[in-house]
Amino acid sequence: PAQALIFDLDGVLTDTAQTHYRAWKRMADEEGLPFDQQVNEQLKGVDRMSSLEIILRHAGRTLSAEQKQALAERKNGYYVEAIAEVTPKDLFPGVARVLEQARARGLKLGLASASRNAAALLDRLGIAGRFDYIADAARISRAKPAPDIFLDVAAALGVAPARCIGIEDAAAGVAAIKSAGMAAIGIGDATTLAQADACLADIAAFDVDAFVSP
Ligand code: BG6
Ligand code: MG
Repeated sequence: PAQALIFDLDGVLTDTAQTHYRAWKRMADEEGLPFDQQVNEQLKGVDRMSSLEIILRHAGRTLSAEQKQALAERKNGYYVEAIAEVTPKDLFPGVARVLEQARARGLKLGLASASRNAAALLDRLGIAGRFDYIADAARISRAKPAPDIFLDVAAALGVAPARCIGIEDAAAGVAAIKSAGMAAIGIGDATTLAQADACLADIAAFDVDAFVSP
């Protein structure tokens, strides 16, 4: 049976996948870079600089390292400004119940977010204390879809990957979970997340007891 749940954050526990999108869109509009929700799908779960590279590639624009740094920082400024308004009310419905169900079953809880803003966001959401371990994205060498961040969390929790369930809204995230040798629950569109072992429309549909047999 499973011994740990390892959650992604943006788009799984709260709607910040959209907040990231709006911040990128604001920067892209200012720079005249074509960018839309469809391109954004490729950005989900992907780290900050790789996200910018995808936007630039799609727009056919080449920039210097300094220019890229400046655009990534500008986007992050917009994002940080937006999450300063986040409160526990912004948790997706069902998150508190899922975390309680997991705790009641004695499961370890980990967080595997690619975001450098994850710790601050968890604080704003009031759930930082619920996790046994929160990965520091800045210390993970290979980003999702590489398994590194999920393996880092499993090791810190002291649970074998085969006994972990990863929960992700991004195709890159589901790929990372599967490549770590874990079971994957996809949150969102079953076609986009076809690699997941199970797919749910949202976190509210996650019944921990149904997935974790006693
Ligand atoms: C991921 C998001 O969780 O974090 C991506 O899905 C985002 O959209 C990435 O780019 C990095 O976030 P940050 O806050 O470090 O720029
Ligand atoms: Mg996500």
